[in-house]
Amino acid sequence: MEERNKTLGEFIIENQKAFQYSSGELSRIINSIRLAAKVVNHKVNQAGLVDIIGAAGEQNIQGEDQQKLDVYANEVFIQTLINREIVCGIASEENDDFITVKGSDNCHNNKYVILMDPLDGSSNIDVNVSVGSIFSVFRRVTPIGTPVTSEDFLQPGINQVAAGYVIYGTSTMLVYTTGYGVNGFTLNPAIGTFYLSHPNMKFPENGNIYSVNEGNYVHFPQGVKNYIKYCQREEEDRPYTSRYIGSLVADFHRNMIKGGIYIYPTSSKAPKGKLRLLYECNPMAFLAEQAGGKATDGFGRIMEIQPTELHQRVPFFCGSKSMVEKAEEFMAEAN
Ligand code: AHG
Ligand code: MN
Ligand code: MN
Repeated sequence: MEERNKTLGEFIIENQKAFQYSSGELSRIINSIRLAAKVVNHKVNQAGLVDIIGAAGEQNIQGEDQQKLDVYANEVFIQTLINREIVCGIASEENDDFITVKGSDNCHNNKYVILMDPLDGSSNIDVNVSVGSIFSVFRRVTPIGTPVTSEDFLQPGINQVAAGYVIYGTSTMLVYTTGYGVNGFTLNPAIGTFYLSHPNMKFPENGNIYSVNEGNYVHFPQGVKNYIKYCQREEEDRPYTSRYIGSLVADFHRNMIKGGIYIYPTSSKAPKGKLRLLYECNPMAFLAEQAGGKATDGFGRIMEIQPTELHQRVPFFCGSKSMVEKAEEFMAEAN
């Protein structure tokens, strides 16, 4: 069969066979994400419609309150993972604390924890612009059979065994890595099947897109201001252009395909940056590196940061390797 026609299901099975001793747990996690992605995709596509239906009262036909899409996505991902008993713990941007998952045998026998941003780009939900879901998978560090602890979640990104995102865009895609490159699958909505459409995705070494919220310019550190000025200079060999959607997933996805850098720096308004290390930056950094790109906090590698709290924020510089390195030069110079 031609590579292009491979379904995500077939791809998962083939890859699992390649690992002789694999227990299949990771494959089952990816399968659950595939399912949850389809459910959320269906809801995202109906977002406008649901609003119209819900407009008269604030309740749906079952008498339940209409939920905001990020709360809905959170519940779908969590319930799908809990029902299938394939992880021992879940941490989500939407929940204050992590969730402990017990199997039906009342044991804690699974070896993976998952961290996620169930709906990324919330400001774009109501305006028909791309949003996404992000996930990150780690092997637990505490013994199997005991309840998970925060130690299992507070691991540096280099320990990730899988990471990925779903982008609900002009088409819906699932893009993920298990540490052997990055592959992208496009959903055929007519039959509800993901097909391998983007095998072995790679960031171009260099690019001409910079993605940063320039509305915050005056609050940025000097190094970032200088880098932006560098991108804006009128010289033929630096034909930079600015693109910023405000959905990390969508900005990252475009930059990975076309070549570009995404920056969410510290600012006087957000002294630690805005993006969350565990739910957004680590998974995107793993994908970026697996695709030949780079992800740093402006000075050091994102995936080497030892997290100290679940909802920790970090500045984020991510994308084509040469562009991230250039931005880092400006950061070091101004420091
Ligand atoms: P979330 O919707 O999960 O809270 O994340 C939004 C994030 C990210 O997706 C996006 O790039 C960034 O916030 C946009 O922030 P600004 O509006 O401050 O530019
Ligand atoms: Mn987000
Ligand atoms: Mn979110």
